[in-house]
Parts: sequence; C-alpha cells; structure tokens
Amino acid sequence: MTERPAVILDCDPGHDDTAAIVVAAQHTDLVGVTTVSGNAPLADVTRNALAITGLFGLDVPVHAGCDRPLVAPARHAAEVHGATGLGGTSLPEPTRRAGTAHAVEYLLEATRARPGCWLVPVGPLTNIALALRLDPGLLDRIAGISLMGGGATTGNVTATAEFNVWADPEAAAIVFEAGARVPLRMAGLDVTHQVRMHGEDGDRLRATGTARGAFLADVLAYYGRSGRGGDRAPAGSPMHDPLAVLAVTHPHRFTHERRPVHVELAGTTRGMTVVDTRPHAPTDAATCDVAEAVDADVLRRLILDTLLAACA
Ligand code: RIB
Ligand code: CA
Repeated sequence: MTERPAVILDCDPGHDDTAAIVVAAQHTDLVGVTTVSGNAPLADVTRNALAITGLFGLDVPVHAGCDRPLVAPARHAAEVHGATGLGGTSLPEPTRRAGTAHAVEYLLEATRARPGCWLVPVGPLTNIALALRLDPGLLDRIAGISLMGGGATTGNVTATAEFNVWADPEAAAIVFEAGARVPLRMAGLDVTHQVRMHGEDGDRLRATGTARGAFLADVLAYYGRSGRGGDRAPAGSPMHDPLAVLAVTHPHRFTHERRPVHVELAGTTRGMTVVDTRPHAPTDAATCDVAEAVDADVLRRLILDTLLAACA
C-alpha cells in the first residue's frame, strides 16, 4: 500500500475547485487548504472553502491568501462561477473559521513542519509566487508543484490565455521558473477539457439522498451550463482542478512531456503559456512536465466514484 502523498491545495472555489477538494481529501494526505482571489473575491472563495470542508467533515486548516494579483487588478469569473464563486448552490454559513496566518506564511510554516508536501495550486498563482519570493528555500522542502493552468493549444478567457494564468501572469511566470529546481506538472486546458461530468452523474449524486450529494449535484448542474465554454463546446462540466490533484496521485493516467513553458506578460497574448513542443526545443529550458494526454474515461469515472464515496 503506497503512502498517500501529502498535499497543500491552493484554490479559489469555484465549482471544479470543490471537486478538487473532495478528491484531494479522499486520495491524498490533505495537509491544508489555502485560498486566493480568483473565480470570486477572496472573502467569497474563503467562505466557500470553509463551507465545503465543513460539509464534508474535513478537519483541515484553511488559510486566506492574496486578495489581488501581484500586478494586475483583481478580476473574477462571475460569468462562469457566479458572483459568490458557487453559483447555483446553497451552502449553510460555515461554522469553521480560517486560520489567522496569511496563506503565504502558512505555506512556508507548513512546509517547514512537514517537508515533502506537493503544492497543488488550482487558482491564480499569486500565493505560490509570493511564497517563493519570500523564501526560495521553499523549493528545497516540497516534493513538487502540480498546477491546473495554461494550455498549449487554447485559452478560455481569450483565444490564448487560460483563466488561472490570465488572472495573474506575473505570478505564473515566477512559478513556471521554479520548474528548474523542483518537479513541476501542468494540467492545462488541452487535457482538462477532456474530462467532463454529465447530467446523469449529477443524478447519481442527488440519488444518494444526502446533503453532500445534493450540493455536488447542484455544483455539476450549474457548472455544466456555465463552465462548458459555450454551446458549441462538448457538453458537461469540465473537471479542470481535480486533474491537478490526480496528476500527483495517479500519474500513470497522464502522459507528461517535459517542455519549455514561457508565460506571455504583454500584448494581446498576455496570459498565454507558450509551450515549446518542437523536437529541437532547448532541453535546458524544458522545466515543466506538461500533461499532453490523459486516460480521460478512467479519470472521469475515478472522480465520479470519489464524489459518490464522499457522500456515503
Ligand atoms: O480555467 C480553469 C480554471 O479557472 C479552474 O481552476 C477554474 O476553477 C477557474 O479557476
Ligand atoms: Ca480554480
């Protein structure tokens, strides 16, 4: 029985972040959760993280982080996740409270106390970037960084920029640099769009007859309409964020290729992750393990089975 990897999840819940929290709780040693301004303002995503961990009985610390990107103004995704970050759902007010330390301080302290954690950021990378700037020794204490963000062939906010990188490109550039010193995995839109939940999956969750199942069914129903990416996109709600967790727990279900990844900081392609897939790309610049294929059906069933198990 292999030991479950220790993970700190940095998130902006967020419908797919919700699934990532549940998947991380079931498949990893979830050390802590940090929140960052992204899908919704910091107060909302932090409230959501506290309510979600409370609903699923997760006794993990939640620490609030940055309320805006390093340089860019705070921008959100209300059109996808609703004004509060969890549109279409109704969670009771959390009884849990966030830890007093800022998420960045928590990340540094938690990795000193527990060396060998994976950092799994599934929102804008502001907290991770600041932690790396505050203490570069962080890279010597973690097992790696597995992020959801970017895309080699497409964006979602613009034709070329994916939301997590687009929201804070300067932070993303700092984190992608870290790949020179620590394992860095990127689950981008090219693979996350392949793993989707559908109406019948929500029906099965609601049929559990539990508050958890009803909440998750509402999450999938709302995100299946808003997160789909337009009527011409494939049906269903894309499981972006859980893939960053599963890239740590189930790496054999991913095909990663080591590539140079550059983050565009200016012009119309600002927020783009330029993934150099040329065979003769400079190997010394290849610092990121980019997920280029996944066992989509296996991962889809794994996520569904995990969500169902969390409702038992
Ligand atoms: O582009 C998808 C990413 O943006 C996901 O992390 C989703 O939660 C949103 O934050
Ligand atoms: Ca997210």
